[in-house]
Amino acid sequence: MRYLTFALGKGRLAKTALELFEEVGIRCEEMKDPGSRKLIFVNEERKLRFFLSKGPDVPTYVEYGAADIGIVGKDTIMEEGRKLYEVLDLGFGKCKMCVCGPDSARELLDHGQLIRVATKYPNIAKDHFYNKKHQTVEIIKLNGSIELAPIVGLSEVIVDIVETGTTLKENGLHVLEEICPLSARMVVNQVSMKMESERIGSIIRAIRSVI
Ligand code: PRP
Repeated sequence: MRYLTFALGKGRLAKTALELFEEVGIRCEEMKDPGSRKLIFVNEERKLRFFLSKGPDVPTYVEYGAADIGIVGKDTIMEEGRKLYEVLDLGFGKCKMCVCGPDSARELLDHGQLIRVATKYPNIAKDHFYNKKHQTVEIIKLNGSIELAPIVGLSEVIVDIVETGTTLKENGLHVLEEICPLSARMVVNQVSMKMESERIGSIIRAIRSVI
């Protein structure tokens, strides 16, 4: 039997994903060792392999079939636009993609002014402003701490994830527009879905029964 390979995005989602796998009897104890620098973990008994990668790389591994199954946020799926099947909403990691900024930016947004938008998600921002709102904006790609941008005058607004709203609040920013709800999803390689339909199908059914 060939190994089924799982790609998990490093960080917040991976821990909850592993707990979910454990609930359905898929164990990978080794992976939980925080001191380990090992990149890939094997469950010999069930012929499963797990690896951690940067979140945005998960859809890439899955599209090319280097991973059969991926666990990744909906934000990353939308941003990367890879060819894959999104098979399950796992129901954790819930948050929202929003346009945020200071109160003063409300007017600029409403009047369709040429504003600058800082974001880690340029494709999601383009889709929202160009395709949905038909508003011309300048999109500036950043890699983190996006909330800084309107504070220091790099941009008028940001497109970013809001979970508890604490980061916005502590920096005097507000949600100005909601783009879409987000959560962790299970994605599957399109060929694996056909070739391994039985094994992947039973994993999907097991996980669906506990979420
Ligand atoms: C995310 C996001 C916000 C924050 C939202 O950043 O970009 O900054 O979390 O969470 P909150 O609404 O609960 O405050 P993350 O911590 O992932 O790091 P980043 O700044 O590197 O993107």
